[in-house]
Amino acid sequence: MCATDAVATHYGSGTLLDRIAAGVERLGLPRHGLDPSALSGVGEFHIGGAAATERLFDQLDVPSGARVLDVGCGIGGTARHVAARTGARVTGIDLTGEFVATGKVLTDWCGMADRVTLIEGSALSMPFGTGDFDLAYMLHVGMNIADKTRLMAEVARVLKPGAVFAIYDVMRVAPGEIAYPVPWAAQPGISALASPHAYLDALTAAGFALVAQTDRTEFALDFFATLAARAAAADGPPPLGLHLVMGPSAPDMVANMARNIRAGLIAPVEMIVRRR
Ligand SMILES: C[S@@+](CC[C@H](N)C(=O)[O-])C[C@H]1O[C@@H](n2cnc3c(N)ncnc32)[C@H](O)[C@@H]1O
Repeated sequence: MCATDAVATHYGSGTLLDRIAAGVERLGLPRHGLDPSALSGVGEFHIGGAAATERLFDQLDVPSGARVLDVGCGIGGTARHVAARTGARVTGIDLTGEFVATGKVLTDWCGMADRVTLIEGSALSMPFGTGDFDLAYMLHVGMNIADKTRLMAEVARVLKPGAVFAIYDVMRVAPGEIAYPVPWAAQPGISALASPHAYLDALTAAGFALVAQTDRTEFALDFFATLAARAAAADGPPPLGLHLVMGPSAPDMVANMARNIRAGLIAPVEMIVRRR
């Protein structure tokens, strides 16, 4: 199995839409005219979910009508969030066909298909023209992509000169043995963790200049503590939580990610760069 197939197999289950539809029903939500924020608990697959997206976008200037690219969009929760928050037209691309198919249905349920377009494809070879986008972001995706040089060059290609690229990825910050499974990999084979330094090297080679870099370890540990407290108080995860996306290994994946972060081996890092 090639690396991209292995990634799509890791994330796909074949039943995600049914499980989300069941959660929507349990909450008594309408399928049509759904507020995108109602789906953020299941649709924003990165540490801190919608709150992390807010923190990142508080630092970015996104004019209404801007063309924005979501690299590795998953089921499109962040794309819908960003489109609703900014008035931008967001295009998401993702390798996992099931995520894209599910995300399109959810986008329809939210009545946002005119502003959010999701397509299946690889971030390493995107079907977009040179300079098509005003801004790009990538949340918790680089951990599955070994060729950071090609990834950053491809994002640079589709951005206009002067455009911002905002990254929020889990990065390797010290040597040591990582506990698996984690949300992006059941075993080390499809994990492509890299250091902030390696990201910056690839970004610089692609023609980006660093604007800001922030380690979000404290924020992440608070988030995990809140998740655990909520789950204990409610006697289980919420009807529309990330366990629906991660599947039966979700408790181990989350526990290992928190353990690896607490051990100082990995950290969620924001990196905002600008194309020269
Ligand atoms: C942890 S999820 C994050 C999804 C989304 N960014 C979010 O925050 O909700 C990682 C995503 O990266 C996607 N991905 C991994 N490698 C990719 C690649 N080479 N091209 C496009 N998407 C990729 C996976 O399919 C998966 O949807």
